[in-house]
Amino acid sequence: MEYFEIKGRQVQAIAFGTYLSSGNDCYNSVRDAIDVGYTNIDTAAFYKNEDLVGKAVRDSGTDREKLFVTTKIWNSEQGTTLSQKSIENSLKLLDIDYIDLVLIHWPIPVGHNHDYQILNKETFEVMAKYREKGLVKHLGVSNFMVDHLDQIERNTGIRAEVNQIEMHPGLMQDEICSYCKERGILVQAWRPLMRGNCASFAPLCELGEKYGKTPSQVALRSIYQKGVMPIPKSVHRSRIEENFDVFDFRLSDDDMKIIEGMDEYRCGSHPLRLTRT
Ligand SMILES: NC(=O)c1ccc[n+]([C@@H]2O[C@H](COP(=O)([O-])OP(=O)(O)OC[C@H]3O[C@@H](n4cnc5c(N)ncnc54)[C@H](OP(=O)(O)O)[C@@H]3O)[C@@H](O)[C@H]2O)c1
Repeated sequence: MEYFEIKGRQVQAIAFGTYLSSGNDCYNSVRDAIDVGYTNIDTAAFYKNEDLVGKAVRDSGTDREKLFVTTKIWNSEQGTTLSQKSIENSLKLLDIDYIDLVLIHWPIPVGHNHDYQILNKETFEVMAKYREKGLVKHLGVSNFMVDHLDQIERNTGIRAEVNQIEMHPGLMQDEICSYCKERGILVQAWRPLMRGNCASFAPLCELGEKYGKTPSQVALRSIYQKGVMPIPKSVHRSRIEENFDVFDFRLSDDDMKIIEGMDEYRCGSHPLRLTRT
């Protein structure tokens, strides 16, 4: 297994996603993922499955310190009072003593153009208080562009340890990745499987044949080779295994260039256009 470092802590180089997972599918998939070997699980208040994720983590019987659990504060919960409530609620629902990583889910400049910097600042300061108390171990953000990262650090004096962004072949996010790398901010890639559509992209299929891997595995591997942690989601055990099996081959520099040259393709919201609160 490969690891990335978050402020001196070794964290598995792949995380398990749970967006749009609910009920038994969610519980069973997290149990399966831990059984397969994932120790790094991603959820969010917005996914409304923190209780199931927490129960699966507890029931797995794995030592708490071997696991790394991330959650996120939703857009409508930013600001001093609401973000505190959000963290308390996540702690209660997850019921796993502490949260390894809390992220601000979106910077929300749209619809909050006058006050989003204040909301981000207040939220981050609340998260820092929970880190002081030991109830949260690491602080980060999600969907932050370079300006947003600059602003939050300037406004709080605190640097995010992680930035979780949409990233996959067709959206390799070079500008944000370089900015984060220079500052020691770990980048995590959401939607790394392009929502399960990797097989629709000829370069990923051709490279899969060349390396004896699936198009999904090629996509995940390309993200890892950029120094970024992919977060694949699946509720099927065979795919959970497939997505974890990406550390026994290496894409050549020329093949990475093929992936980096793929046409631009974004399948999630752009941070400057998201209006959902
Ligand atoms: N921070 C953010 O704003 C943000 C936004 C979106 C997502 N996320 C996080 O990132 C995670 C991943 O993103 P995502 O769930 O949107 O998309 P994704 O992981 O790119 O794709 C998930 C889809 O791919 C399918 N799939 C999984 N493995 C496959 C395989 N090997 N072959 C073919 N299809 C496969 C899944 O179906 P089955 O489940 O049926 O197998 C599911 O429909 C989320 O679950 C969440 O934890 C964060």
